[in-house]
Amino acid sequence: MKTDKVNPHAFFQPTFGNRPDQYIGRDGEIEQFMEGLQEPIGSRNRCTLFLGQRGMGKTALLLELSDRATRAGYVVARVTAHEGMPKAIIEQFQLNGSQYFKEEKRKMTGMTAGVLGFSLGLTFSEAAERQYGFRSKMSLLCDKLAEKGKGALILIDEVRTSAAMREVASAYQELVGDGKNVAIAMAGLPHAVSSVLNDSVLTFLNRACKVELGLISTNLIRAYYERSFRSIGIKISDEMLDRATLATRGFPYLMQLIGYYVIQYTPEGGTVDASVMDKAEKAAMGDMEDNVFKPILSPLSDNDKVFLKALANIGGTVTTAKLQAALGRRGPAIQPYRKRLLDAGVIEAPRRGELVFAVPYLADYMHD
Ligand SMILES: Nc1ncnc2c1ncn2[C@@H]1O[C@H](COP(=O)(O)OP(=O)(O)O)[C@@H](O)[C@H]1O
Ligand SMILES: [Mg+2]
Repeated sequence: MKTDKVNPHAFFQPTFGNRPDQYIGRDGEIEQFMEGLQEPIGSRNRCTLFLGQRGMGKTALLLELSDRATRAGYVVARVTAHEGMPKAIIEQFQLNGSQYFKEEKRKMTGMTAGVLGFSLGLTFSEAAERQYGFRSKMSLLCDKLAEKGKGALILIDEVRTSAAMREVASAYQELVGDGKNVAIAMAGLPHAVSSVLNDSVLTFLNRACKVELGLISTNLIRAYYERSFRSIGIKISDEMLDRATLATRGFPYLMQLIGYYVIQYTPEGGTVDASVMDKAEKAAMGDMEDNVFKPILSPLSDNDKVFLKALANIGGTVTTAKLQAALGRRGPAIQPYRKRLLDAGVIEAPRRGELVFAVPYLADYMHD
């Protein structure tokens, strides 16, 4: 048995945007996208929008897709949406694709190189670099990658409407029209994605495949916890394992937090008991408050919060009728708030006329 205190970071990384030590679940979503890459160019699954709240695992999913697609013969450009995105995408393809062009010798005549648009490997000729915009460069890159049997996959994180987003999306559409082997996956907060879909230039994305990222299977979380704790010599009873699993409610960020704090608060080679779990849950909630609840609530109006408080006070799955009764005639009219908060991904409507909070423990937090 190890004598040093285990570094909880070795198994759990309760931060945003990192690659998890082990990727858990989402087999269906991943398979669907990966199968799309085998489908004809332009098919629906080859242009997918993932939406989910903070901590639901959007960035982790894109990282996972990047690995899988690379193994499946794609060169991947992974970027965060910002004004320099088109340029960043080109650079990513050049960087990540260069390994397939190592042995290529400089072309003998400048003429040929100029016609092809490249000087060496994936480096553009001076003329191409100067004259061509995003779409033409992408077209050249796609052809060049196709020579090596590679496709091009663009991954865009934190998607939102912007001129750069319009440029990339229109280019994608045109590249597909030209029969280039290109695919795209985007991830963002629900309201950012809905604003993208409502943008007049980007309306074609309404035909894209939309995938809402929900909670992950608690069975898989339980099995992962059991493996991780056992492998570092921490003892845990079935009862405490159940408790740790349930505490996550299937929320990926909480899975990292609870796992991390359980290791942190368990003495070397010790046993996870109720007091460890108490402390771990409390610490995890503190992080949830700072990194999930507050950022979700801060852009909302006072009336939005009145609406959410009423929802929290009723508890569980709330019908429109109950909400109306709780808010009273002087409360905010339900429909506009309902729509806005649904768009913002703060609440969900599992069935017509019913509402629940989209993020676990947010209701409890609103309560306090
Ligand atoms: N499927 C998963 N398996 C394991 N860990 C995950 C999974 N999805 C997300 N995580 C972890 O949860 C945390 C939040 O995920 P992240 O992708 O940053 O969320 P988002 O981008 O949606 O805000 C990160 O620490 C990440 O590694
Ligand atoms: Mg993210």
